[in-house]
Amino acid sequence: MITVEPAAFGRKTDDALLLLCCEEERELYRDPRLLRLLGRARTLGEFRGRRDEELVLYDPPEVGPRRVILRGLGRAEAADPESLRQAAGRAVRRAQQMKRRAAAIAAPEEALAGASGEAALQALLEGGVLGNHRVDRERAEREAEPLARIRLLVPEALAGPGRRIAREVEAVCGAQLLARDWVNLPANEKPPARLAARIAREARRAGLAVERYGEAELRRLKMGALLAVARGSAARPVLLVLRHGRPRRPPAVLVGKGVVFDAGGINLKTGESLADMKADMAGAAAVAATLIGAARLGLERSLVGVIPLVENMLSGSAMRPGDIVTGRGGKRIEIGNTDAEGRLILADALAWAEERFSPAVLVDVATLTGACVVALGERIAGVFSPQEDLGRALLEAGRRTGERCWPMPLPEDYREFLKSHLADIRNLPSTRAGGAITAALFLQAFVGRTPWAHLDIAGPAFQKQESAFCGPGATGFGVRLLLDWLRGEPFGPKGDGRDG
Ligand code: BES
Ligand code: MN
Ligand code: ZN
Repeated sequence: MITVEPAAFGRKTDDALLLLCCEEERELYRDPRLLRLLGRARTLGEFRGRRDEELVLYDPPEVGPRRVILRGLGRAEAADPESLRQAAGRAVRRAQQMKRRAAAIAAPEEALAGASGEAALQALLEGGVLGNHRVDRERAEREAEPLARIRLLVPEALAGPGRRIAREVEAVCGAQLLARDWVNLPANEKPPARLAARIAREARRAGLAVERYGEAELRRLKMGALLAVARGSAARPVLLVLRHGRPRRPPAVLVGKGVVFDAGGINLKTGESLADMKADMAGAAAVAATLIGAARLGLERSLVGVIPLVENMLSGSAMRPGDIVTGRGGKRIEIGNTDAEGRLILADALAWAEERFSPAVLVDVATLTGACVVALGERIAGVFSPQEDLGRALLEAGRRTGERCWPMPLPEDYREFLKSHLADIRNLPSTRAGGAITAALFLQAFVGRTPWAHLDIAGPAFQKQESAFCGPGATGFGVRLLLDWLRGEPFGPKGDGRDG
């Protein structure tokens, strides 16, 4: 539970006070007790407020809380929303380690003043909520527990809008935490049917309409590419559809790659590259969580999530390299490599989604290629779109939410690398160079006239080490970005995609 309250520091309490401070000597807090406290820390030279500097004070006089955690923000002008998000996240995690049940966060009034005050407040709330999530909740021996209560202390004028923003942040970040939990589940606990049931339960609770397609229906829908991937696993595939709002206007349709485990298939992955392949459904998790977040926000827009769930394994019934399968829409696909499975399930899902929903805009999210990780590293996603304004809108959303993205090209001449002598297209490009791009071009071949964008989140979906507001493992990348984008500008060339 996170709340926003007008600042007050007098009460004696076991709750920690997380005091964020800038580097300057200026009077960043109006409360004289806090100023004296910061003054002393500075005089003693222990704490300057430099970025990531930290100092814990016990029982400081006058202030109230028995433990005060000072956390540096660096220079005030450099304190952008992402640095506030990180500072709040780190401070909350520190309070967890100190076994606190509750904490209050205070930021310099300067950071919360002016036009960007609400954005700063939102970032602090986000860092608090996301940082409070823990991955060791199921462990017998837990390193720390989430705080039961977090209060953000703000100047009086921000208390009103702050309460609304806190509710929105709980809706959005709460959804992002669902995505993290799903991705962190071990593969043996999330075969497609089980994961679908879990997602569906949360979706219905949020008020979304849920449709579920099993193997027989997928066959009727002629999703030959998706079914080919699923064939190697003992677990049956599921296609889940989540809907928000009434599509009086063409909806925005989001498609998420849901490979609950990617062994590679007959083109079996090796050693290290098998690690963390339970996270190959992070796109599906992000899409489901985005729909749930939209429902919780009561977003006035019609939205559809299309979520193919399969496992890519190897067995006597697995697809083979060289096989030719027929995807939705009749395109024949030569399987050059069974490990290029994401594009196969997405091809069917995209083609079907476009036909079924006539979307105003189509966006897919996928841990699609190792090549994208090579190109952009583990913290930046690739954004591909033939529609420049759509790509730009997604990049700007990512800039606002701190989910870093970079624009990637869709060069027409590279399509020749996907040519097959036998079929209409091959899932394995003839060159390893530009692997993230050729994968995106493969997807594009299954999309018609609908404005489309592809997010390759293979890097940022998962992290080995914990960071400022995320434990080790799943990050929930994409959920805040997509919701920020959906809440912002209307899309589509003519129809604005709004619900009436
Ligand atoms: N799920 C992987 C991509 C991936 C790699 C995600 C590393 C996260 C971290 C995808 O299905 C895959 O195996 N792609 C192949 C494609 C290749 C065979 C054309 C790849 O990237 O090597
Ligand atoms: Mn693969
Ligand atoms: Zn994969």
